[in-house]
Amino acid sequence: ICTISRGTYGSVYTIDDSHGLGRRYDGFGAISGGGATSKLLVNYEENIRSQILDFLFKPNFGASLQILKVEIGGDGQSSEGAESSHMHSADDEDYTRGYEWWMMKEAKKRNPAIKLAGLPWSFPGWVGGDTTWPYTHPEVTAKYITKWVIGAQKYHNLSIDYIGVWNEKPYDVQYIKILRQMLDQASPHTQIIAADILGQNGFDIIRYMQKDPELNRSVSIVGIHYPGTNSPSYAQESHVQLWSSEDYSSLNDNEGAGCLATVLNKNYINGYFSGTITWNLIASYYDNLPYTRKGLMTAEEPWSGYYSVEPPIWITAHTTQFTSIGWYYLKHGSGVGYLDQGGSYVTYLRPGGDLTIVIETMTHDHSVCIRPPYPPYEVKPQNATFKIQGSMKMVDQLYLWYSALKFDGSKSTLFQQMTPVKVVNGQFSISVGLDSVYTLSTISTGHKGSFPTTAQSKPFPKPYKDSFDSYPVSSEAFNFAQQVGVFETAKCKELYRGLVLRQVVTRHPIHWCPLPLLQPINVIGNFNWSDITVTTDTYIDTKDGAEGAFIAARVDRGGCNAWLAQGVFFWILPDAQQFQISTDIARAYMVKSGNVKLARDTWYTLQLQVKGNVASAFVNKTLVFNGTVNSSSKHGFAAMGLSSFGYGSFDNFMVT
Ligand code: GAL
Repeated sequence: ICTISRGTYGSVYTIDDSHGLGRRYDGFGAISGGGATSKLLVNYEENIRSQILDFLFKPNFGASLQILKVEIGGDGQSSEGAESSHMHSADDEDYTRGYEWWMMKEAKKRNPAIKLAGLPWSFPGWVGGDTTWPYTHPEVTAKYITKWVIGAQKYHNLSIDYIGVWNEKPYDVQYIKILRQMLDQASPHTQIIAADILGQNGFDIIRYMQKDPELNRSVSIVGIHYPGTNSPSYAQESHVQLWSSEDYSSLNDNEGAGCLATVLNKNYINGYFSGTITWNLIASYYDNLPYTRKGLMTAEEPWSGYYSVEPPIWITAHTTQFTSIGWYYLKHGSGVGYLDQGGSYVTYLRPGGDLTIVIETMTHDHSVCIRPPYPPYEVKPQNATFKIQGSMKMVDQLYLWYSALKFDGSKSTLFQQMTPVKVVNGQFSISVGLDSVYTLSTISTGHKGSFPTTAQSKPFPKPYKDSFDSYPVSSEAFNFAQQVGVFETAKCKELYRGLVLRQVVTRHPIHWCPLPLLQPINVIGNFNWSDITVTTDTYIDTKDGAEGAFIAARVDRGGCNAWLAQGVFFWILPDAQQFQISTDIARAYMVKSGNVKLARDTWYTLQLQVKGNVASAFVNKTLVFNGTVNSSSKHGFAAMGLSSFGYGSFDNFMVT
């Protein structure tokens, strides 16, 4: 790239704050959760885990995120798995579960100024009085959420800045008001974002806010998901701060990075969104779950220590390393807009101090986002001259950072520092190429962080064993990705067993997925596993116990479609005194049922061997089934689970 410092060159764009500023800049961040997107990150070895967290949160290092939004676990499946609630039942409270507390603390440790946000996807069943609706008793739900905010402060010293309503589901005005009242008592600085609705319908709440002063007072930010960079004029004229509170969701390759580059600029240019939050923070879930690698970077091999820093990290750095929350955008036409030959520029200003201009020239087909589709547009290489006027007109030099995303197999340039640009007589010119991002800033602290080369990628280890004794009580087991239900370590009555893994959801959660998921299932391992033996001890309680338990091989899916999982499933059903073999979790495809003597409150060792199209199943080493099983799924995860919500425990899990 070349910059030219004398004379004008190409079209001229004015950077000027003399006629006022645009909106306040609220930051750029990412979401951990919605759901279980960080599951595999927690069990990386500490020094590697710390490197990964530096790429996400450390200022002037990598993505240097300004907002971290986490899921408020609700015991239900929310995309890549289920996250544990702080209150499985009305009289239960535990603020140690899951990994989001840890994530927030790690983020704050690196950047004390990072803003924290929480949003529920699902809720435990009791919250809605066993309906599917969290607003049945709005006080109960508001109290449940307020307790999470209080718990963050009390047990983790985390101050929650923003709270959402219900991810991409209907909101309830009365609930929002009650939540505001409770927060006013417990955590007055915590602001409400409403209502995280998908697409343009989400702006409707502004009309209600305009008619209802209490609602207007209660909502601080209107957050929309995947707005396609647009907002209607009534939303822009309302002057409420607008956020794209979930966006991106694209593969973390060059095209995904291109999506992010356009969204970052155009969310403000087209829609006046002053905050943008990407889903998801880090792809730390098995590749074969939905939305493979749709995080800013990937860390999905705790067993090998391998991780990869992907282009979206560096595209993020172009904005985050050169701005802070509380800066201002300049106005459209005097620092914010489109380049004449396509591409866009956005100027951020720290009044009385600093200036940052981010230019992107992504072409349409190299910046496709998951949703919604963007109409075609053209971008050409071009020359541009920027004239700086107003309070910043004395600036004589701008630091320059450059990325060029390549799609022809050649090597991309990612966040590279170039020679600073001289500003002569208040102007500079730049020649811009395609699919590129340029940051020009008075901020001198930009830095491309790195660590000496990382570990080699390796497949999931086999044989694999876990007796669950090495974790604290009520935590999840490493590498197990619970899809339905919550499986947490618990002390066992039989002391010799130490800790076991107990499924603790006994009532249907208020589900977030389109269809309810009924069978708790926890998957693990290598999706290419085909001929394996799965062994585990299992126990079903008498009181509030599940109907039955299973182990499985070749499980072909998770996420919201976990209820359709195919594979080879071996079940025991104590009340029916039966074992069953099926090729699906719903037991619509039964291979065999047979009698076997079973009891509740008793441990059994189950073993399932699968080889080619033959399966053998054992209860306490006694063969109960041996025969042909024609499953449509030829490979997949190993799994264990239950046939219904209710208590059931597992111990000495093994795959060979
Ligand atoms: C969103 C949802 C996320 C995730 C994402 C995938 O609508 O909130 O949890 O599922 O879609 O694109």
